[in-house]
Amino acid sequence: MSEMKIKAARKAVEYVKDGMILGLGTGSTTKFAVEEIGKLVSNGYDLVGIPTSIETEKQARSLNIPLTELECVDRIDLTIDGADEVDPNFNLIKGLGGALLREKIVAYYSVNEIIIVDESKIVNQLGTRVSLPVEVTQFSHKKTKESIEKLGCVAQLRGSESPFITDNGNMIYDCKFEGISDPYDLALKLNSIPGVVENGLFLDLASHVVIGTKNETKVLE
Ligand code: 5RP
Repeated sequence: MSEMKIKAARKAVEYVKDGMILGLGTGSTTKFAVEEIGKLVSNGYDLVGIPTSIETEKQARSLNIPLTELECVDRIDLTIDGADEVDPNFNLIKGLGGALLREKIVAYYSVNEIIIVDESKIVNQLGTRVSLPVEVTQFSHKKTKESIEKLGCVAQLRGSESPFITDNGNMIYDCKFEGISDPYDLALKLNSIPGVVENGLFLDLASHVVIGTKNETKVLE
C-alpha cells in the first residue's frame, strides 16, 4: 500500500515548479509528497507552503520548507492532498485524518488541487466505502448530531475514550450513509444546520487525481 502512495505522491510533485506557493495537505499519502517537496527545497527551489494541519506544519518545518499563511498570499498555485473516496466526477470524501476544514479552505483558494490516492479509494458513488466526516462545534454537539441524522445517516462521535478534537477546537461526527446519491444537495443541507462547521464532501475542487496502482501511476485531469 505504501508503495502505491509513494508512486502517486512522486507523480504529483512533478507538477511543482520553482517559485510556487503550495498548499500542503494532510495524511499518510500526502506525507510522502511533503517529503519530496522538502527535497526540492534542499535542491534550491524557491517554494512556500501553506499547511492544512498542525501535523503537516510540523513535518514541513522539520524539512525546512518555508511556510506562510493564506491571508498573506493572493493565490495558492497548487495543493497536493489525499482523499478517502474519489468518484468518477472527481468529487471526494475527505476528513478521515481530521483536517477537513483547513483542507477545504485551502482547496477553495487553490488554482490546482491534485488529489493523490491509491486505487482502493476509487468508488462509483460517494459514501459507499467510508463514513462522511462532519466537523461540528463542541457547543450543543448532541443536538447537532440529531439534526444530521435526520438527513438519513447514523452519526458516530469520533474518539472512543475521549472525543477527537480538531486543530480548530471542534469535534467530528462520522456519518454512515448507505451511499450519497446527491452530494451537492447533502452538502448544502449539512452546512445549513447550526453547529455544523464544515462537511467532508469536496465537490468541484479537485483538478487532477493521481492514482497509484501496483503496476502504474494514472493521472486523470
Ligand atoms: C485528512 C484527509 C486525508 O487526506 C485523507 O484522510 C486521506 O488520508 P490517507 O492518505 O492517510 O489515506 O482528508 O483530513
